[in-house]
Amino acid sequence: MNNKEKLLKEVHDISNKLRTFQKAYYIDSNPLVSDMEYDRLFDRLVTIERENPELKLDDSPTQRVGSDLDSDFEEVEHTIPVLSLDKAYSGEEIISWINKCQTKATSNLNFVLEQKIDGISIVLYYEKGILKRAVTRGNGAIGNDVTNNVRTIKDVPLRLTEEINVAVRGEIYLSKKEFEKVNKTLEQPFANPRNLCAGTIRRKKSSESAKIPLNIFIYEGFFEKDEYNFNSHIDILAKLKQLGFRINPSLAIFSKTKQKAKELLTLASLKGSANEFDEIYEEIKKQTETRDSLEYEIDGLVVKVNEIEVREALGYTVHHPRWAMAYKFESPFSQSVVESIDIQVGRTGRLTPVARITPVEIGGSTVSNVTLHNQQYIDELELAIGDSVEVSKRGDVIPAVEQVIEKNEDNNTTYKMPSSCPICSTEVEIKGAHTFCPNPYCPKQVFGRLEFFVAKSQMDIDSLGPKTIEVLLKLDLVKDVQDLYNIDFEKLSEEKGFGEKKINSIISALEKSKEQPFSRVLTSLGIPEVGKKIVDMLIKNGFDSIDKLYELVDKKDYETLCNIPLIAEKTSKNIIDTLDDKTMRDRIASLKNCGLNMEENVVNTPKLEQIFTDQVWAVTGSFKSFNPRTLALEEVEKRGGRSVSSISSKTTHLLLGKGGGSKKTKAEALGVKIVEEEEFLSLLGSDKKKKEETTFQQGELF
Ligand code: IVH
Repeated sequence: MNNKEKLLKEVHDISNKLRTFQKAYYIDSNPLVSDMEYDRLFDRLVTIERENPELKLDDSPTQRVGSDLDSDFEEVEHTIPVLSLDKAYSGEEIISWINKCQTKATSNLNFVLEQKIDGISIVLYYEKGILKRAVTRGNGAIGNDVTNNVRTIKDVPLRLTEEINVAVRGEIYLSKKEFEKVNKTLEQPFANPRNLCAGTIRRKKSSESAKIPLNIFIYEGFFEKDEYNFNSHIDILAKLKQLGFRINPSLAIFSKTKQKAKELLTLASLKGSANEFDEIYEEIKKQTETRDSLEYEIDGLVVKVNEIEVREALGYTVHHPRWAMAYKFESPFSQSVVESIDIQVGRTGRLTPVARITPVEIGGSTVSNVTLHNQQYIDELELAIGDSVEVSKRGDVIPAVEQVIEKNEDNNTTYKMPSSCPICSTEVEIKGAHTFCPNPYCPKQVFGRLEFFVAKSQMDIDSLGPKTIEVLLKLDLVKDVQDLYNIDFEKLSEEKGFGEKKINSIISALEKSKEQPFSRVLTSLGIPEVGKKIVDMLIKNGFDSIDKLYELVDKKDYETLCNIPLIAEKTSKNIIDTLDDKTMRDRIASLKNCGLNMEENVVNTPKLEQIFTDQVWAVTGSFKSFNPRTLALEEVEKRGGRSVSSISSKTTHLLLGKGGGSKKTKAEALGVKIVEEEEFLSLLGSDKKKKEETTFQQGELF
């Protein structure tokens, strides 16, 4: 045996020992050696690996301490569907769901009740028993690869007890005790363990993640077909435990009789509580009341059908399995009182009523403002100031008033939108369901318009922030967007905080903005509902100058625009009517005089050879040169192709990146041509070269 071989043998020996010790310590809570002995072995392995990086194993126990290299969380496609859970907020809802499941089954079902850990959802992918990837839930189809950070979590097995391929789902969390300890030391403390856990999982350096003692519970396993024939969820849990995963022991099983439940648990050699169906209501109540005494935070409970066959029969929606239901502690509904209703004036002059309510906690955050949209919405609710209302967070995000629960005692009648603008007192106009201030010089509109015009996605004039805009308006140096290009800088320099440096940076940013292409100028005009996508569509369809658009405006030709993809009747009307407005025409004329581009510069964006005409491309996996991968599809579209998000019989090409999963299989089945990144780049390259020969715009491609 030469020296290298000897070292490799030592690496294997130490790794095996450390693995056994780690499992005994972290999973079984039963240490086999002293800390000193453990550290001695560990340090020896670190030394060998440092001096001989080629000997470092994929699942080396040293990975637990992480690395100082930056990771940038590549996007990867899940190979299992990462679904969410349907939610219930009362015991009654849970019972009625259980009964519904039961009616669909031919035999007596058993249900498993688990804690819903309030942490970060993760999928761990193992190949031949080795942890290959840890991927965040992401959008359920694509997540971020956070493997290096997850490897530092002590109770994530890097190697399983069997050399199998398996994907498991679990929740990474931080105990309350550790949270208190760590959070105290942070300059910017986190609001709760969950947020700190999420931050840790996304640290750039895994050595930083390794400093926070995160934990994991695994709750579902996805084995390769025919590998095992599991009959039940608890069989799967038992197998996962045997493979070395940490399973939450506080599970409860509900069967026809207590005896039956006990048998099931014994058969699976799992701890947990055995109950009969009638006890489920009591158990939910008990766990709700005692949750504060747990070592970690839970935000609910999960009830799951135990029988795998029945699970498959019940099936799935695109969002959740029909065989599981979350019982959430935090109701997304709350009661509050409407203290007042304020009117907000937007850049388009639209008046939006906003209810100021007594602050309430809803689904984990405090809500004090709720939009009421328009008069029609208020009328439907018959809402008056002082009313007690039920407030919800729709889709768990946007608060909304659901209904009036109790009318106010002051005899306030249903709220009516003001007849004049609360900012400039101009009489309002009603268009459809909405109320507008028709005065284009209403201060709020002007401010909103300026803020929108200079924003990053429009003219990108970053030295003109909201504070500077306020000063410009206060000093009467600008009345509208075009005035930005004729600011009296001498007057501005008299203002505190506007020294030479600041003024010079404003001047140069404004000058630079004159180079922005027409597409940005058009977007920056703020035509309602006309963002980048619509503007690109207009340009692509030949409306690449303001004059061409005016031709349509003059003829009131709504129809031509409606024939363009993505442009519906309403958008067409918005474009034509907004551009027809006199103030808007004057504004555009002034902007043109100031030197802004009023036609798309064909020299800057040479028309690429339309090599993908009539082709329909989908994309899967992740790419070195296109992150996010939609950039690749943009290249397809620029060359005449169409892009789609899923594969169908109409799809002609699949661009396949690293980690592409189910789409690849589908593409193969449908005979869709599969193109990998290198080939794709060379396809683009052929006209990239051509472009360089003409006037290649730097940075356009990548
Ligand atoms: S089952 C198809 N079980 O809750 C399986 N989820 O939207 C669906 N969660 O973020 C999930 N504890 O990570 C399940 N015991 C448990 C869970 C659990 C926490 C999380 C999950 C996801 C959310 C469900």
